[in-house]
Amino acid sequence: MKIETRAIHAGRRIDPATGAVTPPIHLSSTFERNPDGEYPRGFSYSREGNPNREMLEECLADLEGGKEALVFSSGLAAATAVIQGLEPGDHIIAPEEVYWALRNVIGGVFGKWGLETTYVDTTCIDTFRTAMRPNTRLIWLETPSNPLMRITDLAAIGAIARQTRAITVCDSTFATPILQQPLDWQIDMVCHSTTKYISGHSDVVGGVLITRHDNYLFERARQAQKYGGAVPSPFDCWLTLRGIETLPYRMRGHSENALLLAQFLQGHPAVEAVHYPGLPGHPGHNIAARQMSGFSGMLSFQVKGDAKRAMAVAARCGLFIRATSLGGPHSLIEHRASVEGPRTRTPQNLLRVSVGLEHPDDLIEDLARALS
Ligand SMILES: Cc1ncc(COP(=O)(O)O)c(C=O)c1O
Repeated sequence: MKIETRAIHAGRRIDPATGAVTPPIHLSSTFERNPDGEYPRGFSYSREGNPNREMLEECLADLEGGKEALVFSSGLAAATAVIQGLEPGDHIIAPEEVYWALRNVIGGVFGKWGLETTYVDTTCIDTFRTAMRPNTRLIWLETPSNPLMRITDLAAIGAIARQTRAITVCDSTFATPILQQPLDWQIDMVCHSTTKYISGHSDVVGGVLITRHDNYLFERARQAQKYGGAVPSPFDCWLTLRGIETLPYRMRGHSENALLLAQFLQGHPAVEAVHYPGLPGHPGHNIAARQMSGFSGMLSFQVKGDAKRAMAVAARCGLFIRATSLGGPHSLIEHRASVEGPRTRTPQNLLRVSVGLEHPDDLIEDLARALS
């Protein structure tokens, strides 16, 4: 079946008690045991498993073409659960422009764990290859990357990693399973912040880890969640599953609008550079065209001038909302460097845009006014 159909049906079943088509929200934290001590319906306690969580996990595993999924209370909780599975002395390779808060997790939260980390340009395969070590156990990828929209060649990295003991994980938040399926390129696991496009309405925080095959890091992530408790609430799972029903159509709209906006910005005299993989001039365009079926709704651009000038452009927007995060129906704009703090690698004149589902003419008019 096609992905539009699976987005609506995968993981769902008619409620056996009532016939409800839309699943009920199972708020119960505990589930009845049989006289013989068994749990005949498969649930005992909601930290360990819940019907709404199970439906969402089944749906996301299906959409991503994976074997199994674990949904978490945030995208970072999913990433943290993976890193918790590593041993002192293990080596991680991660993109130099990895989502900034993950750098804080690796360097801060796990600072005393004795992990070795190399941040490299994963878009350059030769550079990436030289970073590999005998103790490399985790290769973390993010494509398209946040906020520069850099594209990593998943097939090339997957092929190198297959010859080693390292497990590859791709943060595919910007692409979603609709536009990119890293497991098809021999990547071992996929991670998403479901807070973003997957839930799609800026009203829930969540994350997911999906695996292509059984592996020890996935099992350890399961244990870390089961006993550490980074679980999403039943209502969060329900909202996310509801959002997924329209995900394929939303991704089409986001991608169409973003391309139009990128084309407009590219020709604007007040703009120094536009970062959008859908533009033929983007350095990762050919790889993106091969491994993605659309270019998503995220773009960034650098204004001519400094941070103050970029902030002033954001301040003059009327329709774009000045807020962080992404993937909802409203278009958002943010001065990324000031969100990321003093150690940021993001250019000071860069604005990141989450292109929403408003009419593109209105979006272009708003940015034209802000840039004038
Ligand atoms: C690419 C990417 N990965 C992971 C995360 C973290 O997700 P969450 O905020 O759900 O913890 C974000 C959040 O912005 C993100 O943009």
